[in-house]
Amino acid sequence: MTATEDEYQEIRAAQASVPEEPIAPFGTSSDEESSAPVTQFAKNTNGLLKKSLASPILEIDFTSTGRSKVPIKNRTRRASTHQVDVAKAIHNLLGDSSATNLVRAECCGGGCCRIASGSNPNSVPSSPSLAPILLPNNPAFAALKLQLAPLTMKTKLRGTYTLPASTIAFDSLAEEFEYNSTVKAHPPKFVTPHPPYEVFPARIHHARCLTQPGAEKRTYHFDLDVTDYPEEGPGVDFVVGGAIGVCAPNDHDLVEQLFDILDIPAFKRDEVLTLHTANGRWPTIWGEEKERQLTTTRRELLTWTVDVQSYAPKKSLLRVLAEYATDEYEKKILMYLCSRQGQAAFCELRTTSHTSLLQLLHAFPSSKPPLEHLLGVLQPLMPRFYSLSSDPHTTRYAHRRIIEIAVTLHEADDWATGKRTGVGSGFFERMALKYIENKGDITIHIPMFRGLMQNPLAREFQPDGPMILIGAGVGIAPFRGFVQRRLQNANCANKVWVIQGIRDSLLDELYAGEWGADENKVKTIVESRVGTGRYVQEEVRNQADLVWFVINSLDGRIFVCGSSKGMGEGVEEALVDVAMKKGNLSRTESTKFWKNKEKSFQYITETW
Ligand SMILES: Cc1cc2nc3c(=O)[nH]c(=O)nc-3n(C[C@H](O)[C@H](O)[C@H](O)COP(=O)(O)OP(=O)(O)OC[C@H]3O[C@@H](n4cnc5c(N)ncnc54)[C@H](O)[C@@H]3O)c2cc1C
Ligand SMILES: NC(=O)c1ccc[n+]([C@@H]2O[C@H](COP(=O)([O-])OP(=O)(O)OC[C@H]3O[C@@H](n4cnc5c(N)ncnc54)[C@H](OP(=O)(O)O)[C@@H]3O)[C@@H](O)[C@H]2O)c1
Repeated sequence: MTATEDEYQEIRAAQASVPEEPIAPFGTSSDEESSAPVTQFAKNTNGLLKKSLASPILEIDFTSTGRSKVPIKNRTRRASTHQVDVAKAIHNLLGDSSATNLVRAECCGGGCCRIASGSNPNSVPSSPSLAPILLPNNPAFAALKLQLAPLTMKTKLRGTYTLPASTIAFDSLAEEFEYNSTVKAHPPKFVTPHPPYEVFPARIHHARCLTQPGAEKRTYHFDLDVTDYPEEGPGVDFVVGGAIGVCAPNDHDLVEQLFDILDIPAFKRDEVLTLHTANGRWPTIWGEEKERQLTTTRRELLTWTVDVQSYAPKKSLLRVLAEYATDEYEKKILMYLCSRQGQAAFCELRTTSHTSLLQLLHAFPSSKPPLEHLLGVLQPLMPRFYSLSSDPHTTRYAHRRIIEIAVTLHEADDWATGKRTGVGSGFFERMALKYIENKGDITIHIPMFRGLMQNPLAREFQPDGPMILIGAGVGIAPFRGFVQRRLQNANCANKVWVIQGIRDSLLDELYAGEWGADENKVKTIVESRVGTGRYVQEEVRNQADLVWFVINSLDGRIFVCGSSKGMGEGVEEALVDVAMKKGNLSRTESTKFWKNKEKSFQYITETW
């Protein structure tokens, strides 16, 4: 059984909403107030930014060799990587606040100097008569960069978020119970995103790094052994262009740190207990919403069932932290973030930083919520999807069934370490490094399931007909499988053209030399950080004749895969330009032309 189109759309919607508008926490109802209303503003601002950054390469100082002298990290990149610092913008508009200076002048030295010299000096009035707030003095709090300007201990907070009810309870087991927890390697049985099938442990047959040191993003290739993957019925199989689902755990060290900061004693972390949930799906992902009773451990729950880092905090979480904060200042700040007056600060927290649960617990160290209450306001840990980067029917290994994937590391800013890796890609990197360090002499399993095999790429791949495959970054991965399959049939080999977007061929040309004997004829590389720097859409315009020929051919298809942040739109604009030029169409006619091609499944996009 594979995910249906509806499920696919559901996953697409759920993943597309990360990180700005996470789905409602399980066990609580969705509350509009908990989503930041500035999200729309942020999106609009991004749109504006996108325009002003439309030609980032113009700023680059180029060397004679064609490679840029400007350190990559100093260069302005596309809008999605920019975060609008709203507070800074407001300060620039208003100038230095004289009100702040006035309040400072009143300072009597009765402890308020801690505020002035604290991490966020302009955030609170410093006169004791105004009952100033003493800010938590720790780096995690400072990194939140909260703007608390009007807040004092006397501020009467309005419209505060209601404390979410605790819908989860733990019970000790009445009698000794034999329980084999596989927490370090495999999710507990109740994590079943692919019912009725359990998550399958696919052994890493081989792993290697596809990028060179110095590449902006690291990408790893994996050969996964699915020889013993259970039969799921006639005709059900891995297909070229499909994407497997992976249940990635939270890093074990991170789980340990969470236990430590929540003061959960060592003997309780692996204690076998009965978990009761009052409603919702959690700790499973799919299936009915209903009350549940399961045997598990606290470590299993923190490792496999909740996302503790990829979503911006919601008010439900902040409210629970506020409830258990024993320090009156911490409580006030947290309640402020849950109040109507604190809405701007809350919105800014959500949209300008990559706050994790661990950071919040460090920032407000007096808050130690019971794990039961906390679990109920965290997002469920969702599977991550990875496209097959090979044709699953052409295996290079005798007697073993191997599927291949490529995983690019996602990183987010982190208050403690500078950068932290995404849950799924970070897990893959840890496993790849372990495999490589041990020179392959180690058994590592990836918890996976068949996943999406009716997604647009898988559904629309055709064994015949001309096709252009446009991919940027790791978006090129599924097209390697397309080409492998087409090369099986000599007739088709000369009907495939690949446009591959990379940053620099010396650093991140994924799968270079792995596209068959005629690679140079099949594939055009477009480098964004070499020479004047180009994106794939420019090559689409350059190859207007070919694009026009393919899309007007019987069974001709154009596939696009990569990031949804800019690349998809950029390619679409280029296609519209091509049809205007080659077909003598107006912009409106051309846009309609591609809409129709999309409807007739000749123009297929899959961007995330
Ligand atoms: C059909 C499909 C096929 C795919 N194929 C591939 C593939 O072949 N190869 C591949 O590499 N990927 C692929 N992906 C993407 C992949 O599924 C994951 O989304 C990707 O690996 C990132 O997941 P992660 O768990 O590493 O990152 P996450 O932990 O989910 O983080 C993702 C991003 O969220 C943001 N973020 C993190 N923390 C916060 C926070 N606290 N607040 C706000 N924002 C935050 C950051 O920008 C971060 O980079 C595919 C996706 C789909 C849907
Ligand atoms: N089946 C699927 O749906 C599927 C499969 C695999 C991957 N994906 C998705 O594909 C994406 C691949 O991303 P990645 O992280 O590997 O690479 P990436 O960060 O998107 O960058 C890849 C290349 O695209 C360039 N680029 C940046 N902005 C662009 C724009 N507006 N138009 C065109 N090109 C642009 C980058 O150039 P600069 O950095 O120099 O600007 C870089 O050269 C991921 O989001 C992944 O989830 C989806």
